[in-house]
Amino acid sequence: MSEQIITVNEGNPKILTIGGGKGGVGKSVIAANLAVALALNSNRVIIVDADLGAANLHAILGINSPSFGLRDFIFNSYPLKDILINTNVNNLRLICGAGDMPGISNIPYRIKQKLINHLKTLQTDYIIIDLAPGANYNNIDLFNTADDGILITTTDVTSIMAIYTYIKTALYRRLLNTFKNNTKIKRIIETSFLNLRDISELKDKVSKIDDKYTEMINDAINIFHPKLIVNRIRNSKYSDTGKNIATLIKKRLSVEIKNLGYVVESKAVEKSIKDMKPFIVRDPDDKASLSINEMASKISDNI
Ligand SMILES: Nc1ncnc2c1ncn2[C@@H]1O[C@H](COP(=O)(O)OP(=O)(O)OP(=O)(O)O)[C@@H](O)[C@H]1O
Ligand SMILES: [Mg+2]
Repeated sequence: MSEQIITVNEGNPKILTIGGGKGGVGKSVIAANLAVALALNSNRVIIVDADLGAANLHAILGINSPSFGLRDFIFNSYPLKDILINTNVNNLRLICGAGDMPGISNIPYRIKQKLINHLKTLQTDYIIIDLAPGANYNNIDLFNTADDGILITTTDVTSIMAIYTYIKTALYRRLLNTFKNNTKIKRIIETSFLNLRDISELKDKVSKIDDKYTEMINDAINIFHPKLIVNRIRNSKYSDTGKNIATLIKKRLSVEIKNLGYVVESKAVEKSIKDMKPFIVRDPDDKASLSINEMASKISDNI
């Protein structure tokens, strides 16, 4: 699939995507709790479960087996406003993945574009899209459509390496889009990018053709500011993980990551899953809840 979603940033509603290269790192619990935090601060929020293969946001938010969801938008052309579900939190509505649909975990390009365009017409302040794990183009292209793309990692090396691959792949897709009308440069990117150790290798290649292409690469890099949350911190020695990841990404890809902060490993998170009640509601004074509230403020303040 080579096409990408081209969206006009209308700025309203603000779209946040929550992604990550590895499964089970806490994307859905963080997406759900951030959504609740923003809603409790009087923002209108819609959270979308785009993990169609293994939808679970409804359970995290305390909603039992919804009978409709994105499946009905995709296959039955239901308007999005008809598949919105009220949650137990004022101002927060949910679009479910609606059941396990492993066969359609990859949404076709045309449908992705329709989904984003329709989401932008909803009357709300924020749309939070919880993505399936993995750096496939399907997830990455949705991640790239956001006003704010937020990545979740744990302190595990495999999860950190997956973040690096995720950001590299997102940049690759962005550069292909930048040069979509330039077959020569596009070809250079397609044949070399994914094996590059350092973005300067690509800049060297294109500058031999014309310096203006290096500038175009710099411009594409300069508007890409993925955000990062490090989850399940067990020990203060890991508190620099986000900073270290940002340094690595800056060095290799020249991309500036913004660190939103970290969430500690907490029993409150496990209990909240068991009780099907978001931890920032169930245990508002827990450290994990305090971090989520801080992150929601940073998002509201556009930091
Ligand atoms: N900070 C935390 N403290 C304790 N447990 C946590 C924490 N974050 C996540 N977990 C545990 O990890 C599990 C997986 O979280 P979650 O479903 O949000 O991951 P995910 O990244 O969305 O997974 P998938 O890729 O499968 O969608 C949760 O059920 C919870 O038990
Ligand atoms: Mg998930």
